[in-house]
Amino acid sequence: MTSPHAPSYFDQVNEAAEFLRGKLGALAPRIGIVLGSGLGAVAEAVIDPVVVPYAEIPHFPQSTVEGHSGRIIAGLLGGTTVIVMQGRVHFYEGYTPQQVTFPMRVLGRLGLETVILTNASGGINANYQVGQLVLISDHVNSLGFNPLVGANEARFGNGSSTGLRFFDMTEAYSIDLRTLAQNAARAEGSVLHEGIYLATSGPSFETPAEIRAFRTLGADLVGMSTVPETIVARHMGMRVLGISCVTNLAAGISATHLSHEEVFETGNRVQHELTALFKRLLPTIATTIASTSERQG
Ligand code: HPA
Repeated sequence: MTSPHAPSYFDQVNEAAEFLRGKLGALAPRIGIVLGSGLGAVAEAVIDPVVVPYAEIPHFPQSTVEGHSGRIIAGLLGGTTVIVMQGRVHFYEGYTPQQVTFPMRVLGRLGLETVILTNASGGINANYQVGQLVLISDHVNSLGFNPLVGANEARFGNGSSTGLRFFDMTEAYSIDLRTLAQNAARAEGSVLHEGIYLATSGPSFETPAEIRAFRTLGADLVGMSTVPETIVARHMGMRVLGISCVTNLAAGISATHLSHEEVFETGNRVQHELTALFKRLLPTIATTIASTSERQG
């Protein structure tokens, strides 16, 4: 139970954001990146990094999963100022929906305009191969919860028309950002599939029967994260780009059994490609943010 003197969730988020602002100094990132399972080494490409372990940030949840290191890394990637979360926490670790989305709230309060959410997933779509990067075009929430259940905290709207009790999720994953990502991939000589990501709570992988059911629901990818973060990011008016790494074929699609090791190993193989994509993509996203601010300002 929280004591009567415990700071409210909103105040906790602000304390964490203020703490981070102090650490960031002159850095004022507008773009955030969350790195999923096995993809953490992307953060090593950040130049002049300011590193802040989650354990130092007030109220910040700690990852308990192997392969999720738990650090904020801010600096330059592709010449663009970014704040990278190396590791995230999941509902299956026993965290509440509010704790799972606490970091996203903090990023929103830091004034981010765009978040890029990456994850590892099982491929349901028969056209996908292990090791492919797929842009998330939409999601199906099968987690069994929505992180916004409870009193609506309109102050998370940052004074704009966001932060509403009910809000539109028609374009949860920005079409403009997906176009920029496709352009960046093309310049790197690849074409990205786009697909629908279905989130389950985990931590057990799915049964083949569940995967067949998810396919009939329209899912191309299955994983255990991202959806709560997307919902909260949209609640705060941030644009979202979702990039999923197909680390394995979903249960029952191939004869092999699923393991966290496979997820981790595939992620490791793909992170160079992901880093190269980011270096091309980030400057183009930064340009769109600058031109929007100019129009508004
Ligand atoms: N299922 C759920 N989550 C996952 C998978 C999977 O097959 N692979 C990576 N994360």
